[in-house]
Amino acid sequence: MKTSPIKIILAPLQGFTDITFRNTFARHFGGVDEAMAPFIPTMGKKKLKLSRLKDVSPENNQIFTIPQILGNNAEDFIFLAHHLHDMGNQTINWNLGCPHAKVANKNRGSGLLMYPEKIDAFLDHVFPRILTGLSVKIRLGRLSKNEIYSLLPVFDKYPLDEIILHPRTGIQMYEGDPDHDAFAEARLLSRHPFVYNGDIRDLTSFQILWKRFPDIRAFMIGRGLLANPFLAEDIRGLPSNENKIKRLRAFHEDLFLGYQRIYSGPAHLLGRMKGFWSHLGPSFRGKGKSLKHILKSESITRYKESAADFFTEGSEFLY
Ligand SMILES: Cc1cc2nc3c(=O)[nH]c(=O)nc-3n(C[C@H](O)[C@H](O)[C@H](O)COP(=O)(O)O)c2cc1C
Repeated sequence: MKTSPIKIILAPLQGFTDITFRNTFARHFGGVDEAMAPFIPTMGKKKLKLSRLKDVSPENNQIFTIPQILGNNAEDFIFLAHHLHDMGNQTINWNLGCPHAKVANKNRGSGLLMYPEKIDAFLDHVFPRILTGLSVKIRLGRLSKNEIYSLLPVFDKYPLDEIILHPRTGIQMYEGDPDHDAFAEARLLSRHPFVYNGDIRDLTSFQILWKRFPDIRAFMIGRGLLANPFLAEDIRGLPSNENKIKRLRAFHEDLFLGYQRIYSGPAHLLGRMKGFWSHLGPSFRGKGKSLKHILKSESITRYKESAADFFTEGSEFLY
């Protein structure tokens, strides 16, 4: 194993990795150096949504967290960026990767990747007017991975902090394999530092990437950390003598209580916890039925009964 330090970044996952999740995660697991928060959309008429801003207030985040903005209106972006700066954020990220048609068809997220000239005009206007650093989170393109060739020269014109590249196209959504060859080529064609993102699911998939890209200093992991919260510890070789099931149970309890404090009705709370289990549940051996029960549960009591089944004696975590 090489000894040079690498950075592990928790990816933004809208609906999953909010401040409650991030802080709870930080109390129970190690190995993650920073997080990017799920996107905050620019708001027309310059209205700020306080609940979204609270998510990225530095004093409330236990993991260093970079706010992310989704939008294509430069003035609204600048307005929000100023607010984030006033809250104490030194750097922010621009979402150019969101693949969902609802977003992309309005030329936001990955929808903008087809228009390098619009990105150029946006950055040209925004850069001199914001007080924070700025990075971009991108895919290879919207429709074709060749779009990256027109994008990189545009990014080279601006002093970006870094480029986080998830090497798929927007229309691929999450299908197919991330294109490691395209990632390799893109970073050679850019002057910016690159962060790798996409399908780091386990130690083996990380090691394949690390071997291939020994000079990449930062890796962003999303779904892999939801399915296996020990993954960053494993990557760093952090030893843990404590029983994994016990640690997961404590984490789950803490997360449940955290969401219970926020959500007044059971529907929201159950919705959040079902999302959590949809990633974590399949990582337990032979718990398919219990997972189904969780996902179908309509009362807190039924939910708790089904969740308890994951933490019984003899329960086995696959990682
Ligand atoms: C449910 C979900 C929500 C996501 N929300 C965001 C988001 O708010 N901002 C963003 O840049 N990417 C978002 N992504 C993309 C992830 O950050 C990441 O790029 C993608 O999942 C690939 O990384 P992974 O394989 O490690 O999960 C989301 C992905 C999923 C599955």
